[in-house]
Amino acid sequence: MSRVPLPYGAKILELFRNPKNLGRMEDATVSAVAGSPACGDMIAIYLKIDDESEVITEATFESYGCAANIAASSILTEMIKGKPIKEAWKVSWRDIAEELGGLPSVKYHCGILAVGALKRAIREYYRMRGFHPDWLPEELTREEKQALEEEELAKVLTRKIGVGGGKKSDRSGED
Ligand code: FES
Repeated sequence: MSRVPLPYGAKILELFRNPKNLGRMEDATVSAVAGSPACGDMIAIYLKIDDESEVITEATFESYGCAANIAASSILTEMIKGKPIKEAWKVSWRDIAEELGGLPSVKYHCGILAVGALKRAIREYYRMRGFHPDWLPEELTREEKQALEEEELAKVLTRKIGVGGGKKSDRSGED
């Protein structure tokens, strides 16, 4: 059975083929993961933060998701570099979709996962520093909840039908 290619825009395809800021950052101030390697959709985000100004000076990512996830993560790291953490927190998956020139609706969750990882990294940064700024909500955001839901689903699938065990390549195709 042949698969119908998804209607990706030029920007998504360009960032998938030549992603910016791809790779692990060994000296990151903080990092976080969202998604599950068991189902293949996973992103890790690495941030270098200047503690005094609370500005994100560098951001990189690793993705084991699809083309849309790679493009979303790549554009997200570009969007938050040089921004104060408080501003980076406000970047939504819709902002990412807009910057990418649109995402197919079945791929919204790829952008949501990228933002979920960013928000986790920001929470972890303040947890490590031992304080909670007033602008940081106590309650989890939609992106963080969705990351949790996907992780739970992956666990259930792994238990029930033994899905998992192999990571999808991060550059294997444009699905
Ligand atoms: Fe799951 Fe894109 S990250 S389909």
